Amino acid sequence: MVADRMPTAQAGPSSYARIVPVLTVPSVAMADPLAEALAEGGLRCVEVTLRTGEAENVLKTMAAHRELTVGAGTVLTAEQARRAVGAGAAFLVSPGFDEDLVAACWELGVPLIPGAATATELMCAQRAGIGLVKLFPAERLGGLATLEALAAPFPRMRFMPTGGIGADQAAAYLAHPSVSAVGGSWIAPADCLRRGDYSEIRRLAAQAAKLGAAGRGGES
Ligand code: 3PG
Repeated sequence: MVADRMPTAQAGPSSYARIVPVLTVPSVAMADPLAEALAEGGLRCVEVTLRTGEAENVLKTMAAHRELTVGAGTVLTAEQARRAVGAGAAFLVSPGFDEDLVAACWELGVPLIPGAATATELMCAQRAGIGLVKLFPAERLGGLATLEALAAPFPRMRFMPTGGIGADQAAAYLAHPSVSAVGGSWIAPADCLRRGDYSEIRRLAAQAAKLGAAGRGGES
């Protein structure tokens, strides 16, 4: 089993930040201005989803911004994990739990934050030595009430709720002691990217950074 040696999320996003923008970026040309807007807004950690044809190049470009810690999201396979790490991903996020992916991340020495939506998945993650999971899709699952119910039997597990969360919901999640970070796409909405409205993204990032800092520990 991977339990002992898995580099778990103690070194994942929650070590860097309490708000993690989930970025689906259709063009590599958007990567630099997006990275600048997020960093100027005060955010330090981002997740680039592998959902576009240019995701790997976007990852590489954003990872060159030293002020940001850049991870890859929507990682479904061991091969994707290897490629994402090759492109500069410092951590990986998957929507669900997969043993092969856990083993690949162990080999790569990169933290994995797997998705979990049920107690069974949390048991799998815990058995694999994982200390932080992405509660996904958090709002659809029942939001904070579901998080509280799932967190109770897993006192050592930490959560990064993601899915349907916006600025209005983030603070309540962040106040929960089992929540290390909150993720979401609300900070870089698709229409802002399409319009090239990086000042709006900077504003949303600053608002999110403030929420993160207010939550616990003074970090964004
Ligand atoms: C993810 O990939 O983590 C989610 O799709 C992000 O969810 P959101 O778009 O509802 O914030």
